[in-house]
Amino acid sequence: MTKLKEHVLVTGGAGFIGSHSVELLLQQGFTVRVLDNLSNGHLDNLPLHPRLEFMRGDIRHSDDVKAAMQGVSHCLHLAAQVSVNSSVEDPVSSATHNILGALNVMHEAAQAQVTKLVYASSAAVYGDSDQLPLQEDCASQPLSPYGLEKWVDERYATLLQSLHGLPSMGLRYFNVYGPRQDPRSPYAGVIARFLDRLLDRQEPIIFGDGLQSRDFVYVGDIARANVTALLSPRCGVCNVTTGKSISLLELLEHLRHLTKCHLPARHMPAKAEDIRHSCGDAQRLFEWLAFEPQWSLQQGLVELIKHQRQSDVARVTAMPINA
Ligand SMILES: NC(=O)c1ccc[n+]([C@@H]2O[C@H](COP(=O)([O-])OP(=O)(O)OC[C@H]3O[C@@H](n4cnc5c(N)ncnc54)[C@H](O)[C@@H]3O)[C@@H](O)[C@H]2O)c1
Repeated sequence: MTKLKEHVLVTGGAGFIGSHSVELLLQQGFTVRVLDNLSNGHLDNLPLHPRLEFMRGDIRHSDDVKAAMQGVSHCLHLAAQVSVNSSVEDPVSSATHNILGALNVMHEAAQAQVTKLVYASSAAVYGDSDQLPLQEDCASQPLSPYGLEKWVDERYATLLQSLHGLPSMGLRYFNVYGPRQDPRSPYAGVIARFLDRLLDRQEPIIFGDGLQSRDFVYVGDIARANVTALLSPRCGVCNVTTGKSISLLELLEHLRHLTKCHLPARHMPAKAEDIRHSCGDAQRLFEWLAFEPQWSLQQGLVELIKHQRQSDVARVTAMPINA
């Protein structure tokens, strides 16, 4: 179906989740504008496409956001300072991106009267809870400034909806993995980091005992959830989850098997800001968005390893002969 009238602004569109979302939006016939300051994203992540426009700019600057919001009907807000550790080390800087930047986007979206704003929240808003699986109405007890910032964004979105009628949905992504997540970046998720070490035949590093568990969602499913939420009349917050979790030790076992690298893990001290167990409840996701993840962990890992090997080959082939 062609949707030429719908013009979507994707903030953070040159990043990991953003670039997959942009690809899907283009495939579905949308016109897309990306606003990204390229602090952690890459232009290489984006295709050359006649319906895609790139604007280099910063969500902390209201003029950039105002310009990017011109003529758009929908907004997918993903740009953020995404490292939990950095938010602990420098909470003020983190808040300028994740609270003030997000507020700029929400305010300009309200001014532009967009049909729908979808923004990235996070499972980090829950913090440590013994009420698993985590339902959207659970008490929020973030363990990091990052989790608190995402929770504040949700409160602002609710307020702007009642003050200005801005329809919005905050998606609480659980742990996202897939191609284009840079394993060497300090922001990388655990799957990218484990895989990078195993493919390099180096021992993977685990913080703590490895019994902490996570709910891993493939990035292709996240992109589908983003597009579904943009088109849905529903407003509020919603988990994007598989509803299943796995410990890091079990995850490592899968990856060892798939990479045929059986090196033991090196354990480092656990981090205070690390959540012990994380597993989302998928009921609202299903009821509100009729959404079910399509990728099992096994399928997603196989796809990721295939992609990783292809990009390693491309990197080696592109090297000068005497490098
Ligand atoms: N990856 C995960 O597991 C996960 C889980 C929960 C929530 N999220 C959220 O999803 C969103 C996307 O995360 P991601 O994993 O794709 O990260 P990413 O770092 O790959 O993407 C973020 C993008 O935002 C851009 N950016 C950062 N600050 C900016 C600013 N001030 N102005 C303009 N652009 C800016 C970066 O250059 C990057 O391209 C973030 O809001 C993140 O908090 C991610």
